[in-house]
Amino acid sequence: QIVYLNGDFLPIEEARVPVLDRGFIFGDGVYEVVPVYGGRPFRWAQHLARLERSLAKVGIANPLDTAGWTTLVDMLVARHPWPDQFVYMQVTRGVARRDHAFPKGVAPTVFAMTSEFPPVAPALLASGVSAISLPDERWLHCDIKSTSLLGNVMARQKAVEAGAAECVMFRDGFLTEGSASNIWVVRKGTVFGPPRDNLVLEGIRYGLMAELCERAGLPMELRRIVHAEVLAADELLLTSATKEVLAITELDGKPVGSGKPGPIWNRLHEAYQQART
Ligand code: PDD
Repeated sequence: QIVYLNGDFLPIEEARVPVLDRGFIFGDGVYEVVPVYGGRPFRWAQHLARLERSLAKVGIANPLDTAGWTTLVDMLVARHPWPDQFVYMQVTRGVARRDHAFPKGVAPTVFAMTSEFPPVAPALLASGVSAISLPDERWLHCDIKSTSLLGNVMARQKAVEAGAAECVMFRDGFLTEGSASNIWVVRKGTVFGPPRDNLVLEGIRYGLMAELCERAGLPMELRRIVHAEVLAADELLLTSATKEVLAITELDGKPVGSGKPGPIWNRLHEAYQQART
């Protein structure tokens, strides 16, 4: 596996970052995860735009322009044999003596790697996944795709310890998102999602879901969603770069709707597979 680090391509075992990198010391960085199908990054422009937004929000200058990022990712992907991959890109504020305030005159650390993107397991498609409800205990800038993911890590671990695949988080009684996915509620044929605000990471699949719903003739609405609505959902879905769109068929040990992936999931999943090609 070859990775990119600060201008070089090298084997992952040889890639080294100094211990004073602010990504290591403070989690002071941002990242992206981009699916690559048949060698082509999917929704690339949208991922780059979100990276740009995350960098701007934390005050790190974008180290590369669009052409630079595109060349980097193309070169990285071309060095690996897998037909489908997902690329991880990370920019940290760089290496400096430990001081909370931003250092001056420091170059950001730029890292990228790619992994095989195996087809989503048939069993997951056939039965869906389980989730648990959790209070959202993260900070108030969840719109930034920050590498500071301790809140997300703690939440995912709670889900795993409860035998679930993901959590469904609530802040002040309202649905936010999963630990690494966006959550969608289907009720009477309409797909509902939480508003695009500072309390969720606006997944690249937000825009995609809007398009897929439109194509499938399904109404979609973004609004605040209370816990009771999630419990009463006909279907519950999660989306992410790596999971595409999955049905959540069990929540807090109880079946969601019929307890099986539902017809709306089926249509959106199919539409997703078409959009990928
Ligand atoms: N996570 N919300 C959170 C907190 C996420 O971490 C992610 C993605 C999403 C979905 O965003 P998108 O549709 O752009 O993948 C929502 C990535 C996959 C990760 O951290 O590995």
